[in-house]
Amino acid sequence: MHTVQVELAGRGYPIYIGDRLLPRADLVAQHLPQKRAALVTDTALAPLYLDTVANALTAAGVNVAPIVLPAGEQHKDWHTLSTVFDALLANRCERKTTLIALGGGVIGDLTGFAAATYLRGVPFIQMPTTLLAQVDSSVGGKTAINHPRGKNMIGAFYQPLAVIADTTTLNTLPERELGSGLAEIIKYGLIRDAAFFEWLESNINALVARDAAALAAAIQRSCENKAAVVAADEREESGERTLLNLGHTFGHAIETGLGYGAWLHGEAVAAGSVIAARVSQYMGLISAADVARIVVLLERARLPVVAPDLGLARYLQLMGIDKKVEGGAIRFILLRAIGSAFLTADVPPHALAAALAASVERG
Ligand code: NAD
Ligand code: GLY
Repeated sequence: MHTVQVELAGRGYPIYIGDRLLPRADLVAQHLPQKRAALVTDTALAPLYLDTVANALTAAGVNVAPIVLPAGEQHKDWHTLSTVFDALLANRCERKTTLIALGGGVIGDLTGFAAATYLRGVPFIQMPTTLLAQVDSSVGGKTAINHPRGKNMIGAFYQPLAVIADTTTLNTLPERELGSGLAEIIKYGLIRDAAFFEWLESNINALVARDAAALAAAIQRSCENKAAVVAADEREESGERTLLNLGHTFGHAIETGLGYGAWLHGEAVAAGSVIAARVSQYMGLISAADVARIVVLLERARLPVVAPDLGLARYLQLMGIDKKVEGGAIRFILLRAIGSAFLTADVPPHALAAALAASVERG
């Protein structure tokens, strides 16, 4: 097992990364302020992993209330959130009862938001089971649900007490979900870690083939990158954390525009990253050769590099509802180079229109 520490004054926490960690009740129990927990998961994961975690905790003397939610992005909403509150109240969960999120980013984001707001805040632990959640969403304390008008528009910053990433769970992950996680891994290389991008170019086949050593190395390096960004700018105030949203302005528009769940989050981020790279190219910031490197790596990760043609006007409308909008202006994450990103609202309309035109499917 390897541990990456998120350094936050008074609220730092460990990310445990390793195989067969789900039955390690000791990793969980040491963080519990009370021997009670609500274990939140979804209908796809419950048959696979709920008993393993619940039985281990019960054997360690922890009283466990399981809460099983419907699986999928389309359920990351108010209705599902309120069913979590119903279950917490029905089980008389208290201020020291810990919420444990066992699942992907949907379960993690939703459970985290429930933890941030139930009784004005209860302890929370992340047990991520998707590649995307292990490299990104379980770390950093962004919690949210979707609104029909925009992705993750309702939420809170709320840090977990610990993240327990059992890499063995990736063996049962569907193929598309693996690719979705690879998109967020590639993102770290693009925004701040050129050496990691090169490592990914050499190791992408091993990652796609689920080579355990390659996956463990990529998860660790991604968590180190994420922990460093979160420690520097926990609440996206200085702008550094905003860079983690490369490709997301376009990606969130794709997810909302097509309906939640049609494209996976990482798929939308992949196509969105290509659009952001082309905007950067058309502004004279990066070369066509660098854009080609990005496209090739994403393709090798079996990710989409062509976005759906929603039309320029609809893209602009959807991107106008984004947490980065400031003073009414859409702000974009662009690339100065592979490994160097920046935030700007100063994007010439012709560069944006040309990048979108070059990146959408032609019917
Ligand atoms: P997800 O949570 O929908 O999980 C994907 C699917 O795979 C689900 O159906 C789930 O039941 C299933 N699954 C999960 N683990 C499995 C396993 N080990 N074996 C078999 N099936 C498994 O999707 P995701 O990609 O993990 O998360 C996407 C969400 O994360 C989006 O809502 C996105 O907005 C959010 N996100 C949040 C942050 C953040 O910082 N909070 C960062 C990135 C993404
Ligand atoms: N995934 C974006 C962030 O955590 O800030």
